[in-house]
Amino acid sequence: DLTPNPEDRFTFGLWTVGWQARDPFGDATRAPLDPVEAVHRLAELGAYGVTFHDDDLIPFGADDADRAKRITAFRTALDATGMTVPMATTNLFTHPVFKDGAFTANDRSVRRFALRKVIRNIDLAAELGARTYVFWGGREGAETDAAKDGRVALDRFKEALDVLCGYVRDQGYDMRFALEPKPNEPRGDIFLPTIGHALAFIERLEHPEMVGLNPEVGHEQMAGLNMVHGVAQALWAGKLFHIDLNGQHGPKYDQDLVFGHGDLKSAFFLVDLLEHAGYDGPRHFDYKPLRTESADGVWASAAANMRTYLLLRERARAFRADTEVQAAMIAAGLDQLAVPTLAPGETCADLTKDDFDPETAAAPGLGYERLDQLAIEHILGAR
Ligand code: GCO
Ligand code: MN
Ligand code: MN
Ligand code: MN
Repeated sequence: DLTPNPEDRFTFGLWTVGWQARDPFGDATRAPLDPVEAVHRLAELGAYGVTFHDDDLIPFGADDADRAKRITAFRTALDATGMTVPMATTNLFTHPVFKDGAFTANDRSVRRFALRKVIRNIDLAAELGARTYVFWGGREGAETDAAKDGRVALDRFKEALDVLCGYVRDQGYDMRFALEPKPNEPRGDIFLPTIGHALAFIERLEHPEMVGLNPEVGHEQMAGLNMVHGVAQALWAGKLFHIDLNGQHGPKYDQDLVFGHGDLKSAFFLVDLLEHAGYDGPRHFDYKPLRTESADGVWASAAANMRTYLLLRERARAFRADTEVQAAMIAAGLDQLAVPTLAPGETCADLTKDDFDPETAAAPGLGYERLDQLAIEHILGAR
């Protein structure tokens, strides 16, 4: 079924459809979007929920009365539409105070302010029912390696997460953290640039079980990496807590295209992996409607994300159900990879007993070309 509905668990950041399309070279091309309208429009399109940075909902520096008013309006929209808030996050990058980072700013008073800002929004996130809290450290990094000792910066990054894990535990919130890697932009080089770096970092935290990943398609591809392999490793580690779906054309600036509008083939294999692996978290779109678009184009792009996902899901199911694909997978030996290399009870000594001829083993072709073309035929709807 290609009509999005809440069971599909599609979610959008308020900052995506609400992006006014300001870029480093040009002013906004669109008017501000009221979060209340965003909730209603996305609900009409079949979304399951919305996510937000504190500052998307409550402008930086707003007084308590203004803050309360905006939260009430947002809650009313959620109640009216049945929309959920599965995830929230903190804006630790827009205000000039974060120009040198938040958790890794050299200025200790900035680091303490960053923690207060996060804690305040964690409280709101918990009230709104969010069970995932994302950390994208866009300003945690440097343009020159003279500016930071990376080891010390990671000490402070770890300290921040340890403190915040402690806070969530003390409050008894049912909430987990998800780190979002990105190689660069806005900093020249960002700490925890890829899925792999973040996975290794998590293991050194005080509460590694509370912290996982929010990988973004475009961010891995900006680093020239294979998002499907990265997500597979996150799943393998039990760390795929959330995901940012969008599109990107290889290593260049962060494009944040509609999902599938970048590397379509990789998007197909990503959907295949998520569905096949039984990932049950939100399918969260973190994209930017093109700067050329007016409001109509924004809503067309929101619908496009969901429809593209559903089309790819349908294509991935057809691919897996195709008996020729199944036969090609068997011929290529995909099922054999699931067999442990040593049988139960065997030791290294048993390896010497094999009757093995490398020439014979090297001879057969694997038929990956045929399998790959079958995938293309399914992506193109030719089968
Ligand atoms: C980016 C990031 C952000 C984060 C968001 C939530 O490159 O701009 O993808 O959009 O996802 O800040 O943490
Ligand atoms: Mn991005
Ligand atoms: Mn982005
Ligand atoms: Mn993102």
